[in-house]
Amino acid sequence: MNIEDYRDIFEPFDKLLEIEICGERQEVPENNSLLRCFQFLSLKTISYGDFCWNGDCLNCKVWLEGLEKEKAVLACRTKVSEGMKITRMSKEIKINDGE
Ligand code: FES
Repeated sequence: MNIEDYRDIFEPFDKLLEIEICGERQEVPENNSLLRCFQFLSLKTISYGDFCWNGDCLNCKVWLEGLEKEKAVLACRTKVSEGMKITRMSKEIKINDGE
């Protein structure tokens, strides 16, 4: 799958931001929700995953590194920002590099 063929599923972006997902650096499109960013990294598994995309199912829960403790957020409702660090993710979120 070529991500350029699916560009219209993403919010418009001009550049990629660097974030960390469970200790691995990844480049993802600015201006998009974290769940879209995961989809960018793993088009198949996220597209066909069990996600409502609107805040109901809670399957997209991730934990962000905070100042004192982790903070749980919904990936479909959280916009990505440069340097975000995701420490843990719901088991529903499967990211396979290169898919
Ligand atoms: S995808 Fe269902 S709550 Fe985020």
